[in-house]
Amino acid sequence: MSEYALELKNITKRYPLVLANDHISLGVKWGEVLALVGENGAGKSTLMKIVYGLVTPDEGEIFVDGEKANIKSPSDAIALGIGMVHQHFMLVDTLSVLDNVILGMEPKTGPAIDYAAARKKVVALIEELGFDLDPDAIIEELPVGAQQRVEILKTLYRDARILILDEPTAVLTPQEVDELFKFLREFADKGHAIILITHKLDEVMEVSDRVTVIRDGKVVGTVNTPETNVAELARMMVGREVILTVNKKPAEPGEVVLEAEDLFVKGGVRPKLNGVSLSVRTGEIVGIAGVEGNGQTELVEVLTGLRPYKGSVRYNGQELAQSARKVREWGVSHIPEERNDRGLILEFSTRHNVILGDHYRPPFVGFWGFFKDGVIDEYAERVVEEFDVRPRSINLIGRRYSGGNAQKIIVGRELARDPKVLIAAQPTRGVDIGAIEFIHQNIVEARDKGMAVLLVSADLNEVMNLSDRILVMYEGRIVGEVKPDEVTEEQMGLMMAGLEASA
Ligand SMILES: Nc1ncnc2c1ncn2[C@@H]1O[C@H](COP(=O)(O)OP(=O)(O)OP(=O)(O)O)[C@@H](O)[C@H]1O
Ligand SMILES: [Mg+2]
Repeated sequence: MSEYALELKNITKRYPLVLANDHISLGVKWGEVLALVGENGAGKSTLMKIVYGLVTPDEGEIFVDGEKANIKSPSDAIALGIGMVHQHFMLVDTLSVLDNVILGMEPKTGPAIDYAAARKKVVALIEELGFDLDPDAIIEELPVGAQQRVEILKTLYRDARILILDEPTAVLTPQEVDELFKFLREFADKGHAIILITHKLDEVMEVSDRVTVIRDGKVVGTVNTPETNVAELARMMVGREVILTVNKKPAEPGEVVLEAEDLFVKGGVRPKLNGVSLSVRTGEIVGIAGVEGNGQTELVEVLTGLRPYKGSVRYNGQELAQSARKVREWGVSHIPEERNDRGLILEFSTRHNVILGDHYRPPFVGFWGFFKDGVIDEYAERVVEEFDVRPRSINLIGRRYSGGNAQKIIVGRELARDPKVLIAAQPTRGVDIGAIEFIHQNIVEARDKGMAVLLVSADLNEVMNLSDRILVMYEGRIVGEVKPDEVTEEQMGLMMAGLEASA
């Protein structure tokens, strides 16, 4: 056996506008977790798609366990023991866990699927891994953490020994992250190999053995985790010092612009919103902290006019009941948590993605209802420039952007229209630390000019750093209000778990 599970030599991949991978060489050893970090668009996902046979490189060689490999498709990669958990899950939502795991690899007796054999193997695997998963549960009814366990299960069912995970923690709760890391550590300790892509440098420090940093498609360096720290990694990634905390003056709140009273939204067994009241003033950032799934999604949908509710939502004292268009026209911007479903139209180019939601009215549409292409292009160029969207083109379609750059397009669109109120759900999910710094600065600047912000984030760090006041949500209710400098993360954790009322 070779020391290296996987080695890449001089991998190069050119796209029309960018050199996504520029002679990248790196390796992961058996028994280790290698973290792969780099800015949005650095080329991480592309490189891993090449390893998994989803993208064909222009140049370069791949060695698996010391042998040159010829990977032309995912089935070649799987045959070599490589498994991949993607940035966006690839499960069939309406099928069960069992069906998803065996899909494409069903054991057969003659022409028929041998369900009994399949179930036996899957159940044994779940038990061996200690995963909390019901093989008959339907995917769309499972929390994200469980869906991810299904993705992992799928790769292990196919006997993966080299596991690639692309931003697996972006959507997980802290508890789910702990469980995932426990699994990763055990998997590596068995002698297998892991490549982990993440933007969270404290996670890199926690779980990896070595770190490879890439920037602009090139390897900047590889370091042993115990010999580095977050600041050094950040500098290697971005090429300059990064401010890891938000710089802001105390807020100067004005009058109330957003007022919600006694909101109720029906749910299955329990209501999704159970009597939520809150208000946001001009010039302040109100954070909603909470473990995902406690009503935050529903709250945002109600406030943006996307979901029916009982109760009252007033902007500037005016009821704008359930009309997303009216709410937006009045001056509410919304950064949605699901960037691929709601944030962008993946087949649209950036010139059209940056005017979504305002595309039917002036200045983008003329008197006769035709698009004013010149105006739109100029506007799009400005947004792309101001929000550092890479590559700097307004012609690229949504699907072709790296995850973090897609997010920058959305944030740019929502801020560039100078809203009175910004409702931001997970605004920096999947975004690199340089860009987080940038988005946070932009939100604070808009606040200082009088914008009201409601920030919903599962990232406790973000809520504590950015908010002027924090409301804690638990089981469809606001269970406490705190000032960020008056609580510890531990107290917040307890409140988020419903264990302690206001600090
Ligand atoms: N199919 C494609 N066509 C054109 N360009 C592409 C395509 N896929 C990726 N790119 C470009 O290649 C570059 C690298 O993208 P990649 O997705 O690998 O970045 P990444 O490091 O994973 O970033 P992120 O952290 O944002 O996920 C980006 O500039 C992206 O726009
Ligand atoms: Mg990526």
